[in-house]
Amino acid sequence: MFLVKFEQMKIQIINGPNLNLLGVREKSIYGSQDFNTYLESLRKRYPNLEIYYYQSNVEGEIINKIHEVGFTFDGIILNAGAYTHTSIAIADAIAAVNTPVIEVHISNVYKREEFRHVSLLAANCKGVIAGFGMNSYQLAIESLLPI
Ligand code: DQA
Repeated sequence: MFLVKFEQMKIQIINGPNLNLLGVREKSIYGSQDFNTYLESLRKRYPNLEIYYYQSNVEGEIINKIHEVGFTFDGIILNAGAYTHTSIAIADAIAAVNTPVIEVHISNVYKREEFRHVSLLAANCKGVIAGFGMNSYQLAIESLLPI
């Protein structure tokens, strides 16, 4: 008898600055759910995935996490918050690793201030998902699954 061991897909979600305040912060834009509650529902929906979560308000810590998982994980889902619009260093980190990175935003950044229309990260990402509320993260997971 042969035993085939399937490795579970490893997906890292990274949330950047101010996203620790989801559920509290600007509820009319970001909704009233906190991220940990949403994360639990994601893990229940995808029991066959290993979904890891990291949040930091510090640019260099986000870069360290991208380096840490970016050669072994199957996908990174990155909401870099306002660093999306400013950080060449995070763009370089995404370019440096092998793991595909999906840029996500909870709000539709294109409906908002002009400075949010620019992403310094998008060109180095596999794709961008924005404007679907918390479900932007679920859509990003779907985009990483084999068809
Ligand atoms: C955001 C959009 C950014 O412009 C903003 O700075 C954030 C959150 C979003 O998820 O909609 O912090 O990334």
